[in-house]
Amino acid sequence: MPTAVSTHSLSHNFDTPRGAVTALRGVALAIERGSFFGLFGPNGAGKSTLIRILSTLIIPTGGTASVAGYDVVREADKVRASIGLVSANENSFYGRLSGRQNLEFFAALQNIVPAIARRRAAELLEMFGLAYAADSHFQSYSTGMRQRLNVARALLHDPPVLFLDEPTKGMDIATAEKVRALLRREFVERQGKTVWLTTHDLDEMETMCDRVAILEHGSIRASGSPAELIRQASATVEYRLELSNMPPDFLSTMRALPGVQSAELVSHSDAATVLDLTFADASPSAELWQTLACDGVVVKRYAPKDEGLRMLMKNGGGDFTAHQPRNESPHR
Ligand SMILES: Nc1ncnc2c1ncn2[C@@H]1O[C@H](COP(=O)(O)OP(=O)(O)OP(=O)(O)O)[C@@H](O)[C@H]1O
Ligand SMILES: [Mg+2]
Repeated sequence: MPTAVSTHSLSHNFDTPRGAVTALRGVALAIERGSFFGLFGPNGAGKSTLIRILSTLIIPTGGTASVAGYDVVREADKVRASIGLVSANENSFYGRLSGRQNLEFFAALQNIVPAIARRRAAELLEMFGLAYAADSHFQSYSTGMRQRLNVARALLHDPPVLFLDEPTKGMDIATAEKVRALLRREFVERQGKTVWLTTHDLDEMETMCDRVAILEHGSIRASGSPAELIRQASATVEYRLELSNMPPDFLSTMRALPGVQSAELVSHSDAATVLDLTFADASPSAELWQTLACDGVVVKRYAPKDEGLRMLMKNGGGDFTAHQPRNESPHR
């Protein structure tokens, strides 16, 4: 399957008066043509930076990326002709022109001949439920109507790839659902376009996307189908354990315990041994506490290895200490 978007070791640093800010760190992604892809991640993760690089608005400071088969730096014109871009809070429509006039104006800027522009504008206004307001001034449009016009504009030149940065922000739930369904059914399934959606909305991701990636601090934290990621996030918790006096065979004992998915040695010295443990759920079994409490094992530190996929996806609490049996606590 040919890729619509691919990135290799893509990195980006912003120069600021207070020094460099790293927004992306070696992002590698491959998105199939004709698929609906969702990029999910907390504020500041780098989602908009990635979309801005892919739509040629900024040049990456490291790595490469291609869209519709064209390199985003060397073939930027061809990339631009192949994409539509929708950013949240877009504010470049003309208030005193109607929705229709705005679309026809932006079509002219893209050298679309007037007859085709008229037909295309009318078609898109209809599809996005704006036909009734086509001839009203843009300034009379609500936030949700503006956002829909914004998506319609990105499709004027019929691009094979569409980038949407939080497109349903400002839409009410019912409107957002309609827009999503339209994007999915009409543009992805019927027309075979590739849609890249950036979102904070777990429902949006789950119901719309074929594949999802989670970006955290500029790196891809996980990727897969929404169901796979949700399963992974609700099913595993990683902890880092620092202990002294590790008995022989301790690792294999740990691995054999119910609920322990993996136990890996990170480092070992006379002073301390560091292990990474992955549990199948948030509350490790009583056997685990017994194993940690015996054989003179002294646990120095027992903490979540990182924020955890679960926390990232806000899929239930990840406070391990809440599950820790008091009198079997290894922290003494
Ligand atoms: N023009 C800029 N100059 C300096 N730093 C920037 C610039 N744009 C983004 N950043 C920084 O890069 C990082 C990634 O920002 P980005 O806007 O890509 O995140 P995001 O995932 O889109 O977040 P949000 O969910 O809030 O939209 C942040 O640390 C941000 O402060
Ligand atoms: Mg953003």
